[in-house]
Amino acid sequence: MPESSAADVREDDARRREARLTAILDTAVDAIITIDEAGRIESFNPAAERLFGYPAGEVIGRNVNCLMPEPYASEHDCYLARYLATGDPRIIGIGREVLGRRKDGTTFPIDLAVGEAKTPHGRVFSGIVRDLTERKRAEEELRASNRNLEGALAELRVKNEEVKAMTQQLWQAAKLATLGELAASIAHELNNPLATVSLRVEALLTQTPADAPQRPLLEVVEQEVERMAGLVANLLQFSRRGQARASTVDIPEELLRTLDLVRHQLRNRRIEPAYEAVPGLPAFHGDRQALRQVFLNLLVNAIDAMPEGGTLTLRVFAERAAAGPRVLVVEVADTGVGIPDEHLAKVMEPFFTTKEEGKGTGLGLAVCRRLVHEHQGAIHLRSEVGRGTTVRVTLPVPSEANTEHLGRSEARAGLDTTETGS
Ligand SMILES: Nc1ncnc2c1ncn2[C@@H]1O[C@H](COP(=O)(O)OP(=O)(O)OP(=O)(O)O)[C@@H](O)[C@H]1O
Ligand SMILES: [Mg+2]
Repeated sequence: MPESSAADVREDDARRREARLTAILDTAVDAIITIDEAGRIESFNPAAERLFGYPAGEVIGRNVNCLMPEPYASEHDCYLARYLATGDPRIIGIGREVLGRRKDGTTFPIDLAVGEAKTPHGRVFSGIVRDLTERKRAEEELRASNRNLEGALAELRVKNEEVKAMTQQLWQAAKLATLGELAASIAHELNNPLATVSLRVEALLTQTPADAPQRPLLEVVEQEVERMAGLVANLLQFSRRGQARASTVDIPEELLRTLDLVRHQLRNRRIEPAYEAVPGLPAFHGDRQALRQVFLNLLVNAIDAMPEGGTLTLRVFAERAAAGPRVLVVEVADTGVGIPDEHLAKVMEPFFTTKEEGKGTGLGLAVCRRLVHEHQGAIHLRSEVGRGTTVRVTLPVPSEANTEHLGRSEARAGLDTTETGS
């Protein structure tokens, strides 16, 4: 083969290779850029044009750092120089996520894979650039939805805790109800033997001379039997085995009667009673026995709260709720020890007591609440430690009752609440 035709064949091969390469570059989805050792752009394929917004003609020959934002742009020449000097690749053959810069100045995340080829004219570096904008956005969306999911999960956990707490409460309530039933049936069974013992003790006492040595012992037995009878009565009230008997009740009169029952204790404790009632209050329709029980429980609590004496104030008046029914208000106020905040929410719960063993069953206020509720009323406690407690019972008066003599006006019949003055 003549020499010239051999050269022709080589040239032909080279052209064919070039055409193939161009075809590959033109159709590649990824942006492909080649640069020389000085960092100048030698080729810029159509995908690169689309990605960076530059026509190839505008960037070929320019430093590739025009496609990077700061600080990469300034540092790129140094990277290149260092690599050429040390042969220590920082990015070549590794690929990494960096930022690209479009013609319009906007930046975007890219995945850059750098390759290297040695040619007779020096080294050529190729960069394959993949736009990560979509992937980043998808990742961000995933992260956001993950965060949302985590939030929802946390909320679910809270709700779950609430449900657990509620279940616990219900369980407690159920246990308490069973306990109440049990206590009530025991109390019921105890009633008869107690009455027998009480009668026997009374009989024995009448037969025992005042100076007999057995007398103090009998008196102790009498007192204890009385205490047991009180406890049994309280338990029975609590479970309300008996039927309510409704009649017309003069509230101020019942309050004074109850006060009479405790006068002896008031004197012993040096407690000053004060009574304030508005005359001509409307009559109330309710269970007399139940209301006496309420007043007695409140008075006993007030007396217990004033071991060093003080003032016990009873008030009765009527109010007209803003948009509700007319109510009779009974207030029992003491100047006693008061109720600390942490106890206030619990004092009306059955069996909550701070009194020493044998002194209180913790049923007094629970009974009051139940009885007041049975009269569609409400009970409200206000207390300040060291200053005293005021219990306010509101009882709605039926509209047909005579309410012309209302004492005070424009107040609201509240729900059961407790609050401290501190
Ligand atoms: N006026 C008051 N001042 C201070 N604390 C009070 C007053 N009334 C009630 N309490 C507190 O509330 C608790 C519960 O009262 P509650 O009347 O229900 O039961 P108790 O008096 O302890 O026992 P019980 O009335 O069954 O004999 C009391 O132990 C006491 O700590
Ligand atoms: Mg009590």
